[in-house]
Amino acid sequence: MIPGYLNYSHPRGQSVHVGICGSIAVYKALDLIRDFVHTEMRVSVSLTESATQFITPLTVKGLGAELVYTTMFSLKDVYAHLYPGIDPQVFLIAPATANMIAKLANGLADDIISCQALAFNGTILVAPAMNPRMWHNPITQENVSRLHRHSNIEIIYPDTGDVACGDSGTGRLAFHNEIYFRVLKSIAPKDMKGERVLITLGPTREFWDPVRFWSNPSSGKMGAALALSAWMRGADVTCVCGPSDIWLPCEIKKINVISAREMYQACIDLWKDFSLGCLSAAVCDFRPKEKMAHKFKKQTTNKGLVIEFSQNPDILQLLGQRKGKDQILIGFAAESQEDFIELAKVKLDKKNLDLIVANKINVPHSGFNSDQNEVVLVSRKGEVIRLQKMSKADVSWKIWDQIFKV
Ligand code: CTP
Repeated sequence: MIPGYLNYSHPRGQSVHVGICGSIAVYKALDLIRDFVHTEMRVSVSLTESATQFITPLTVKGLGAELVYTTMFSLKDVYAHLYPGIDPQVFLIAPATANMIAKLANGLADDIISCQALAFNGTILVAPAMNPRMWHNPITQENVSRLHRHSNIEIIYPDTGDVACGDSGTGRLAFHNEIYFRVLKSIAPKDMKGERVLITLGPTREFWDPVRFWSNPSSGKMGAALALSAWMRGADVTCVCGPSDIWLPCEIKKINVISAREMYQACIDLWKDFSLGCLSAAVCDFRPKEKMAHKFKKQTTNKGLVIEFSQNPDILQLLGQRKGKDQILIGFAAESQEDFIELAKVKLDKKNLDLIVANKINVPHSGFNSDQNEVVLVSRKGEVIRLQKMSKADVSWKIWDQIFKV
């Protein structure tokens, strides 16, 4: 299931047609259907005859599919082969077998899915799943390249790993989130196309000895949601990530760092090539003055421990100082005091920002590590927008909505 912080409202009411072919990976398509239904999207499904060897129409109906097609030849709907036709929404074929890819690449239309795909006007996402030898076969590869040349067809490339038959290699259906968000991306507005977005996310770790560090509970969820939203809206996104196991789609570039100084170096090097910066990382303001080469032994002290700290660079402030006239910079302000909006305004001015996202860190089920956030957006022009508590995904969407008004 898609984690709560990535619950988006914008796809509600939109429709996706899922074509399922005969592969052992069909069980993964069922999870995708569940997530689309959970997102309140309208789901319809077509099953090839081979797919019905693995699952029945009742299975997908039971999961919430509104319409289920298994044949082109039914008196109930003589035009089943043309569904969803000119509806400009998305058609996902997952799992797509080597056979289906060959048919699509050659314009064959002798089963319900290949026929519907040929008659479809919108984006077709093809997620292959097959044995690695079948995937690497030059004929399959040639068919995939042929599909690639069509602007309305996108391939969601298979993963590498163990496959059901016991072989290992490339051919496993792509990871669930990767497919789910490619579908959401295909129906999202592309109002951030042409933007190059730099995002920092997660905590930093400031090591004192090889096994001990200074850090904070940041999960990177807010930054990941910002990255996904910008990517879905057409931006080219790069994330500089502090240590966290947060998932990001493969089309988002990820630079992993550990300490604040590494994050600073990465951001300073990149910033001039970006049009938008959004620094959501919870950077440690201080680091232990010394980093010991060997593990500190407790026997060396019997009077407690005093560690001296040095100040880390303020990455946001330094990017603000180097901000060009066409660049936009967004920061966060994590505050625990009542006058948090005033404190955020001070940070906005001091760091030369266009927008600041103020969050009061002691609100229950909001902020650090939570799936939701309750924030106030403050713009350079002095506009104050209070957002009610919502998923981090929706907060990030609204931040980008707001930025075009700055
Ligand atoms: N930030 C940064 N580099 C730092 C500290 C903070 O880039 N060394 C960025 C954060 O990513 C965030 C913003 O600055 O976007 C504000 O961070 P916050 O912790 O709220 O405030 P600080 O500026 O560190 O000030 P203070 O801790 O005194 O509130």
